[in-house]
Amino acid sequence: MRLVRLASGENVPALGLGTWRMGEARRTRAVEVAAVQTAIEIGNRLIDTADMQQLWSLPAGANCVANQVYYSASERGAEFDLLPWHRDHGVATMAYSPIDQGALARDTTFATVGRRHGVSASSVALAWVLRQPDVIAIPMSASGPHLRENFAAANLELNADDLAQIDAQFPPPKRKRRLATT
Ligand SMILES: NC(=O)c1ccc[n+]([C@@H]2O[C@H](COP(=O)([O-])OP(=O)(O)OC[C@H]3O[C@@H](n4cnc5c(N)ncnc54)[C@H](OP(=O)(O)O)[C@@H]3O)[C@@H](O)[C@H]2O)c1
Repeated sequence: MRLVRLASGENVPALGLGTWRMGEARRTRAVEVAAVQTAIEIGNRLIDTADMQQLWSLPAGANCVANQVYYSASERGAEFDLLPWHRDHGVATMAYSPIDQGALARDTTFATVGRRHGVSASSVALAWVLRQPDVIAIPMSASGPHLRENFAAANLELNADDLAQIDAQFPPPKRKRRLATT
């Protein structure tokens, strides 16, 4: 398999397996799970979003070390049972759209918290995701100043008052929900 060398020095396969929505429909689940198993057996190591519990039921399922999910303060569905599951199984959570596709950069609650720390709403949104030690955030930005601001957010620590204010506006999930995907 041709590998693509990342700037970090890591090599990743050029071809992966897209698994979005695989395993969701009962009628086709068995065939789809078998397909993931086959992909792993033939050497596939680049797997897109997968149903983690099904993945773990496969012999090589535990080779997965990170799961990329839509996760931000305004999309907290993954907190209900997926993030705890990740923790129990040593899988890192990679939060995509951590600023909710830019929406939290314009949010007044985040702006208010940010003013207390002298930072922007986006920085607070990222610090909120990164408050958990096993969560990685991958914000997108094509702007130099935004990129610098986003990297600085890794050193911002939110206090209990900040978190309570954010919880009041964006409460944690009380039941399982379909996770956001786009
Ligand atoms: N696995 C998947 O299915 C999946 C799906 C979606 C996304 N992703 C990955 O996740 C990455 C990020 O997700 P995303 O792009 O959907 O959402 P996002 O990172 O939450 O938001 C990106 C938006 O926020 C703006 N932004 C970033 N930093 C900002 C700042 N400091 N101040 C103000 N605005 C700021 C960006 O505009 P500027 O360019 O102007 O800064 C852009 O419009 C994607 O690039 C992709 O790699 C993965």
